[in-house]
Amino acid sequence: MNPLAQHPSRPDAGAAGVVSAAPAGPCSVVIFGAAGDLTKRLLEPALFNLANTGLVPEHFGLLGADIADLDARGWTASLRAMLESFVGDPEAEDQIGRVNDAAWERLTAHADYVQGDFTRDEFYETLKSRLEAIETSQGTGGNRLFYLAVADRFFAPIVEHLGKAGLLAEGESGEGPWRRIVIEKPFGHDLASAKALNRRLLDVVAERQIYRIDHFLGKETVQNIMALRFGNGLFDPLWNRDRIDHVQITVAETVGVEGRAKFYEQAGALRDMVPNHVFQLVAMVAMEPPVGVRAEAIRDKKLELFSAIRTVRPEDAVRGQYDAGEVSGRRARAYREEPGVAADSNTETYVALRLAIDNWRWAGVPFYLRTGKHLSERMTEIAIRFRKQPLAPFKGASIDDLPPNWLVLRIQPDEGIAIEFEVKRPGQTMQLAPAQMQFRYRDRFDPEPNVGYETLLYDCMTGDQTLFQRADMVEETWRVVGEVLDDWSGRPAAGFPNYRSFSAGPEEAERLLSDDDPTRRWRPVALDPAEDGS
Ligand code: BG6
Repeated sequence: MNPLAQHPSRPDAGAAGVVSAAPAGPCSVVIFGAAGDLTKRLLEPALFNLANTGLVPEHFGLLGADIADLDARGWTASLRAMLESFVGDPEAEDQIGRVNDAAWERLTAHADYVQGDFTRDEFYETLKSRLEAIETSQGTGGNRLFYLAVADRFFAPIVEHLGKAGLLAEGESGEGPWRRIVIEKPFGHDLASAKALNRRLLDVVAERQIYRIDHFLGKETVQNIMALRFGNGLFDPLWNRDRIDHVQITVAETVGVEGRAKFYEQAGALRDMVPNHVFQLVAMVAMEPPVGVRAEAIRDKKLELFSAIRTVRPEDAVRGQYDAGEVSGRRARAYREEPGVAADSNTETYVALRLAIDNWRWAGVPFYLRTGKHLSERMTEIAIRFRKQPLAPFKGASIDDLPPNWLVLRIQPDEGIAIEFEVKRPGQTMQLAPAQMQFRYRDRFDPEPNVGYETLLYDCMTGDQTLFQRADMVEETWRVVGEVLDDWSGRPAAGFPNYRSFSAGPEEAERLLSDDDPTRRWRPVALDPAEDGS
């Protein structure tokens, strides 16, 4: 969803003038990796939520493709079983009220499944004939969305095979039926591999056909940053180097590697989270206002921002790896003791970076980023610290005694926005006390179930690329972290493991801030900063 366009949004009960979304136009969705975890946990529930809110087109085809030995009935039954298991589970990744049979039928009544090996030509012959049969019976007009929910080594080969089989051809300037591919992360593992992957994809399809997903952009609170910045006159005059001291972005997780050691050992926290998710948060906060609402206008501004970020030097990065720890009586093992992890693993489960942005708005304003697993709280926030006023005209108070003001954008959980400021403590003397103004999503809205993928899938079906990464954006973000990746791969980490599970991360990360200014400290990794869990 383009957050700046007058765009259908989920209805806000009782609000006047709220535009409801229209169903997407006729199309088929082909899911590669149909029997995999991502499909079951995220894609199918999101498609279901879309069907449940009437946004799946009336003329719709669904085709699963996977190596797993299943047929259409077995496949859809396994999806439904997973969906049922989410119902009423507040801990589930997907919030499903109940599985509405009509919506389920609408989604899966005509679904088909093709079993086979994605690397073989014959597979695509079968896929083609089965897809064409769905297209005819469902009247989808030949519009196709190929969703690649597979390991990254399959991205280019699948697209090349689809191209060879003639399944991706569009009219020269996009007229006629559309054909789109959706690529999950990781999009490359460094600049060279991202460039190589872009080249191979762009040999087969045009950029307008590629939807590189970053699921953080599907989150309401991430899109809301645009609303906050560009929909209000209040913040804009403050949003620059004159008023902002620095910005902290924290993506803290309590989970560990959760059975993904094979992937994670190769990736590590930096590759897994930073050039993609964390940099999208940076872009939302720091980009210039776009000159219009077109997807390209917004993506151009993000690219401009990424290009202005200085390549991070190894001394501006701190890596960490979790040791054992305990929380609420539960003992967690160290990363090196996780199944599938090498006993002397050098993989980082935590990273903190100091970014410098070389443009007129941000010159001299550091952006400190950190993300890690097994931290004290699951919490994603963007905290903007304002500069202090020049003097404190209160008896006995020096300006150094006054805490700074913060604007905190809570991305998840407890979604909302808070402003931290000073007020007069009631009484006969002038004493200041910290206070907070809060906006909480849950107080204002009654949101529909949404895992973020709904918005992104809907956008793929309706052809809105605003929330997707463009080739040049992906390459710039890999450029920014390239020197650190090279440095780390050539130099074993000293002192790993270096933070206790369920703590705030390695102590050393403090130096990124305090070296710049001794009054700067990371905010607590705690939902309520008054109860610092670290
Ligand atoms: C994924 C990473 O892309 O994002 C995971 O591979 C991480 O390691 C996840 O846990 C975080 O996403 P969310 O939506 O749970 O914050």
